[in-house]
Amino acid sequence: MTGKSAGRIASLAGTDEGADPAERAATLREIIDRAAREYYLDDAPSLTDAEYDELYRELVALEEEHPALRTADSPTVRVGAEPASSLTKVRHVSPMLSLANAFDAAELFEWQERNARIASEAADGPFVAEMKIDGAAVALLYEDGALVRGATRGNGQVGEDVTHNLRTIRDVPLRLADVDAALPSRFEVRGEVYMPLREFEALNAYRERREQPTLANPRNAAAGSLRQLDPRLTAGRPLGFYGFQLVPDPATGAEHPCATQWETLELLIALGIPVNPDRARCDTLAEAHEFAASVEARREELGYGIDGVVVKLDDRSLWEELGVRGDREPRWAIAYKFAPEVAVTRLEEIAINVGRTGTLNPFARLAPVEVGGVTVKMATLHNFDEVARKDFREGDYVVVKRAGEVIPQVVEALVDRRTRELPRFEVPERCPFCDTPVERPEGEVAVYCPNAACPERLFWTLVHYASRGALDIRGLGERTVRQLLAEDLVGDPADLYELTLEDLTSLEGFAEVSATKLLEAIEASKDLPLSRLLVALGIRHVGDVAARILARRFGDLDTLMQADRETLAAIHGVGGVMADAVADYFARQDNRDRIERLRAHGVRLTEPVERSGHRPWEGLTFVITGTLPDMSRSDAKRYIEARGGRVAGSVSGTTDVLVVGDNAGSKLERARALGVSEWTEAELLRRGDAEAEAAGDEPVDAEGGHSAEGADDG
Ligand code: IVH
Repeated sequence: MTGKSAGRIASLAGTDEGADPAERAATLREIIDRAAREYYLDDAPSLTDAEYDELYRELVALEEEHPALRTADSPTVRVGAEPASSLTKVRHVSPMLSLANAFDAAELFEWQERNARIASEAADGPFVAEMKIDGAAVALLYEDGALVRGATRGNGQVGEDVTHNLRTIRDVPLRLADVDAALPSRFEVRGEVYMPLREFEALNAYRERREQPTLANPRNAAAGSLRQLDPRLTAGRPLGFYGFQLVPDPATGAEHPCATQWETLELLIALGIPVNPDRARCDTLAEAHEFAASVEARREELGYGIDGVVVKLDDRSLWEELGVRGDREPRWAIAYKFAPEVAVTRLEEIAINVGRTGTLNPFARLAPVEVGGVTVKMATLHNFDEVARKDFREGDYVVVKRAGEVIPQVVEALVDRRTRELPRFEVPERCPFCDTPVERPEGEVAVYCPNAACPERLFWTLVHYASRGALDIRGLGERTVRQLLAEDLVGDPADLYELTLEDLTSLEGFAEVSATKLLEAIEASKDLPLSRLLVALGIRHVGDVAARILARRFGDLDTLMQADRETLAAIHGVGGVMADAVADYFARQDNRDRIERLRAHGVRLTEPVERSGHRPWEGLTFVITGTLPDMSRSDAKRYIEARGGRVAGSVSGTTDVLVVGDNAGSKLERARALGVSEWTEAELLRRGDAEAEAAGDEPVDAEGGHSAEGADDG
C-alpha cells in the first residue's frame, strides 16, 4: 500500500498506523461490513468506491500476513452483503462472483504474471476488454428460451427475486431469439442493469424539486429502482441492460456452448440480449491496456457511467484451469479501475442555502480547482450530519470528487494539513437569511427555518412557482427572481401579477421587448388549470400526478380547501401523509391570504372538465393490466373512452396500447411479444392531456408548456 492511501485509511478507520493487527482487522471488518450494507442494502454508500477498495485491500493484506486473523465471517471470505428481507430470496445456479481490481498498468501486468505461474498460456492472450458498467448486477434465468426469473446479486450465493421489475426493462427479452446453436435448456444470462446519465440527472432534478434526497450516483439509482417492491416505480425509471456472461445451470449437465468469451458475446447478441458495443478483442495485454486508456479518455462522452474496463482471458478453457481465488474472484478476469476524478483544494466557506420548505442545506465554497477538466467552485456537503461526521472545517484542505455525472462532492478533509487549529463547524442557531431561530424536529436530520416570509425561502418559492411543471412563466428564472427581490418588487407570488412595464425595464438586462414578453408570460400563467397552480403552490408531497387527482376530484380550489383530512385521505392515490400536508397547508392563514390575492388577480382556480367533442384516440384499442397507481380501472376506462379510445379485455393483434400498472401479469408478456406500446398511468394522462392541447382544447397540464392563445378557441 502506498503512503498516500495509508494516511487516508488511517483517517477513515480512525486508527493510527502501527495499531495492533487484530484490532485493526476488527475495525476494518466493521467498516467494510457497514459500507457493504449501505451499498447493497440501503443504496446509500457513505464510502467512495476507492475508499472501500483501499480498506478492503488493507484487510486482505493483513489477513494474508496473519492468517490466524481470518475469521469465517470476514468480508474477504463472503462475497457481498446479506440480502434485505422484503423480497423473495433465490439461489443462483452458481455463485455470482466479484472481480479483483487493478488500479494502474503495473497491477494489470502483475495479474498476467500471477496467472502465468498457474497456466503459462494465460500470459499470451488473446484478451477481451469490456466496459465495466457502473450499475447493478443481475442474473436472468432462461428456461427453454423464456425468462423465468431475474435476481439481484445479493451476497453472491443468494439474491433477491426482482423478476417483476426486470420485466419492465425493455432491454431484457422475455423470450430469446432462436439460434442455430446447442444451448443448455436452462441458463443464466448475467449482466448489468444501469441508468443512463441523462435519466439519472432528470431523476435527481425531479427529486430535488420535490425536496426528496438526491441519489448519490447512477448505480444506486439503478439498484434502488430494481429493488422496488412495486414494478410501477421501476417502470417509471428508464433502465438499460447489458449482458456479458452466460452460465448454464449445472443441474442440466450441459456444457457451456462457447469456447471463448468473444463468441459468448456474439451468441448473446444473436439471442437478442443487448451487449455493449464498446469492446475489443486484443492479442496482447498491452493492447487491452491501450483500449482501457482510450476509454478513460472518452469516459465523459458515454451516456452511462462506467468505473473501469474488465479485461478477460478470451479462451474459456483457461478459466477452469485458473480457478477462483478465495471463493470470490475468478482469476480469468480483472477490473482495471479508473482513477476517480479528484483534486485537493481549500474549503473556503461552509455556506448554507434555504429551500422553499425551509430546509437549511450546507454546501462548500471552494478555492477554484480543476477536477476532470471542469473548474469546480462549489460542491455539495449533503447535510449537517455529514459535515459533523467528516469534521469539515472552514480553512481545511479537502478532497473534491466529481464522478463525471454527479455534482461535485467533498469527500474528506485532509486533517493532517491543518497548520493551525480551525474552529469546528457549528450548525447555525438562526437562519442565515432572516435571523429566525431554526427548528430541528425530533428524529429528523433536517434543520428548518420556520419563517414563511424568509427571503431565501421566498426566492425558491418564486423560482418554483414559475418553473416548467408549475405555472411555466418563461423568462422568470433564478436571475430575474433575484433582481425582483433585490429591488423589493415582489414579496409573494401574487405580487408577480402587479408588476408593470416600468418595474421590469428598470431592471438591468431588461429592454421593452423582453419586459413585455415576461409580462405576457405572467399574464398567461393565470389561465393554467388548477392542477398546475396546485403544483406551483409547493404543497408538500403534492407533485404533478397528485395535483391532477386533486384538481379533477374537486374541480375548484374552494371545494378542495373545504375538504377535511378524512375526505382527502380516502381518495385513491392521495393517502394519509398527503392528506395531512394538504389540510395543513390550507389551514394556514398566510397561505389562505396568498390564495385570496391570487384570486383577486384573476388566477384561475378551476380545473377544466374534459371536453367530449375531441377524440384523439379514435380507432385505438387499449388494454389495461395490473393495478394503476392512482386511477381505478373504471376511471381509466372512462378517461380513454372520453378521448375516443376503445378498451378491450385482452391483448391481441389489434391492441395498440397496453396501460401497465402494478403486478402486471401475462398480458404484459403477450403485449411485449407483439410489440404493443406500453404506457404507465402517468404517460396515459400526459398524452391524453397533450393531445387535447395540441388540438386547441382547454390548456391542460402537459409537460413542455402551454399556449395562451389556444386557450380560448373552444
Ligand atoms: S465479468 C466474476 N464484465 O462488476 C464476475 N463484470 O466487480 C464476472 N461488471 O458484479 C464479472 N461490467 O456485475 C464482468 N463487462 C463486465 C462487467 C462486470 C460490470 C460488474 C459485475 C460484477 C462486478 C464485479
